[in-house]
Amino acid sequence: MIKDFNFYAPTRVVFGHEAEAKIGVLVAAVGVNKVLLHYGGGSAERSGLLGVVRDQLRQAGIAWCELGGVVPNPLLSKVREGIERCRRERVDFILAVGGGSVIDSAKAIGYGVPYPGDVWDFWDGKAVPMACLPIGVVLTIPAAGSEMSSSCVITCDDGLLKRGVNSDLCRPRFVVMNPERTYTLPPYQTAAGATDIMMHTMERYFSRYEDMTLTDSLSEALLRTVRDSVLVVLEHPDDYRHRAQLMWAGSLAHNDLTECGTEKDFATHKLEHELSALFGVTHGAGLAALWPWWARYVCAAHLNRFVQFAVNVMGVANDFAHPAETAERGIRAIEDFYRRIGMPTTVPELLHRRMTDQEIDTLVNKCSRGGTIKIGAMQVLDADDMRAIYRMANQG
Ligand code: NZQ
Ligand code: ZN
Repeated sequence: MIKDFNFYAPTRVVFGHEAEAKIGVLVAAVGVNKVLLHYGGGSAERSGLLGVVRDQLRQAGIAWCELGGVVPNPLLSKVREGIERCRRERVDFILAVGGGSVIDSAKAIGYGVPYPGDVWDFWDGKAVPMACLPIGVVLTIPAAGSEMSSSCVITCDDGLLKRGVNSDLCRPRFVVMNPERTYTLPPYQTAAGATDIMMHTMERYFSRYEDMTLTDSLSEALLRTVRDSVLVVLEHPDDYRHRAQLMWAGSLAHNDLTECGTEKDFATHKLEHELSALFGVTHGAGLAALWPWWARYVCAAHLNRFVQFAVNVMGVANDFAHPAETAERGIRAIEDFYRRIGMPTTVPELLHRRMTDQEIDTLVNKCSRGGTIKIGAMQVLDADDMRAIYRMANQG
């Protein structure tokens, strides 16, 4: 079966060595009154990128104000500060300079400014976004794919609730991507980013809809490319060619291209968001610690797909007589790959300790909203399934 789809990717991509030179023109083309320049904890200032962005705005005659300090796993408190600031300064465009955390914070501020109620209503399911300030992005890390996605993932400081909201309204107008700007990424962030990129594709590849072979081929090529390129850039951080492959893969993995004819599962993402909310871990590393255990939990019911992944992506020889063994070898191959790039393959490797039973209960409770919702699509998981997977990942 091929799932019907409605593909929408409105973001202009300006990619390459001189990409930053276009920022002023791109912002001016939107026709803005005042820009909020939004960024993270300091990497963009240290690298000189923010200086280049300010020069671009100045030269284009565009007024702006600034709000930095977005943390990884971005917080609602910063979003509220941004909304207040934008209203006070009559900002009508947000320029996010950073990665998924800064972009998501920008999107949330964009939703909040025109909304008269409390912005958390959107994540709490009490309201649906009806408007969003336009967003532009200068990307510094290939990972979350937020630069082309419809998602916005925010953590409410009160209760550490990490949730996503999806709407086409927040898809950025443009993204400026210069792979050279990713040379300064620490190895751990590079590896976690690559893991996240692969997972965005895998969570659409492991699908009940198995007949869109074109999408499968695109996904398999993307996965092999990211797997190979991350190994190169961990050895040679300033390898332009492979940084470029990773950067473009990050956007393609999450702009829904690899979902055309298939279906999002995203169970591992849902399980991980609770880990990064509770323990503050890096999203991609949390995914690496969980996916092998999700895979083993659901594998028997979807053997063909796991065999295809093992053979076409991980290069495992097909043992036609024993498909379950081929599938398991594929899972082990990705665990070996995670170890090579410095990612964990269990929760104890991630947290440097085991979770307590009480912590697992907390994760399950939050992920299942007290047992009221299920997650996943290829295989639907209830609270008991979630607990079983967290427990498997906790043993390793
Ligand atoms: O804050 P600074 O100092 O800039 O440092 C950042 C941050 O510590 C650093 N960094 C970024 N670019 C750099 C750099 N350091 C040196 N040189 C550079 N060029 O990297 C760290 C991580 O940045 P962050 O933005 O948090 O990374 P990522 O892009 O992985 O975003 C993670 C967030 O996105 C969410 C995740 O859950 C997490 O909250 N996601 C958002 C999605 C979406 N909106 O579509 C989908 C994803 O599945 C994901 O859930
Ligand atoms: Zn992700």
